[in-house]
Amino acid sequence: MVTAALFSPFQLRGTTIPNRIAVAPMCQYSAQDGLVGDWHFAHLARFGLGGAGIVFVEATAVAPEGRITHGDVGLWAGEHVSPLRRITDFLRSQGSVPAIQLAHAGRKGSVQRPWHGSAPLAQERPGDGRKSLEHRCAQRPAGPAGLASSGGTRRRGAGRAPSILAP
Ligand SMILES: Cc1cc2nc3c(=O)[nH]c(=O)nc-3n(C[C@H](O)[C@H](O)[C@H](O)COP(=O)(O)O)c2cc1C
Repeated sequence: MVTAALFSPFQLRGTTIPNRIAVAPMCQYSAQDGLVGDWHFAHLARFGLGGAGIVFVEATAVAPEGRITHGDVGLWAGEHVSPLRRITDFLRSQGSVPAIQLAHAGRKGSVQRPWHGSAPLAQERPGDGRKSLEHRCAQRPAGPAGLASSGGTRRRGAGRAPSILAP
């Protein structure tokens, strides 16, 4: 019997991935202080139930100022580990290999969530309480010169990037 390559195992050093179906990391911008919650569990667990060979946790910031938005998943403190472990344990129980994309947004950090316009937080006009809290804790982007990126995915009408973000 011929087995389709898609469903044949793939060896990655010491790890055997049971098939070639890989779920790419997908930012949800839904974490609280970097912590994953039920949303992330449901989002990723279903790919394990579906039999994906390897499932990537979304871009996960290694430092608070390395987040694209304040809703990014983080892994800069011990408290981040346990809720991530809940996800990876479940994926393993389904035969999937859990993986993670470690990330640092550099000069593209500290912007609004995409559905708020992706404008730099330091330029955001505080609206509701949550936004103004994020506005207050916007961090100077970590890049070669501390300059915010002027690129990005801002919607038409959203604020332009300043040359330097306030700390
Ligand atoms: C909702 C969503 C979130 C994404 N988040 C990330 C991410 O966290 N990291 C990343 O490298 N790419 C991210 N991407 C890009 C995907 O990983 C992938 O590269 C893109 O969807 C193209 O995949 P395809 O060539 O298989 O269609 C995201 C894509 C989508 C649709």
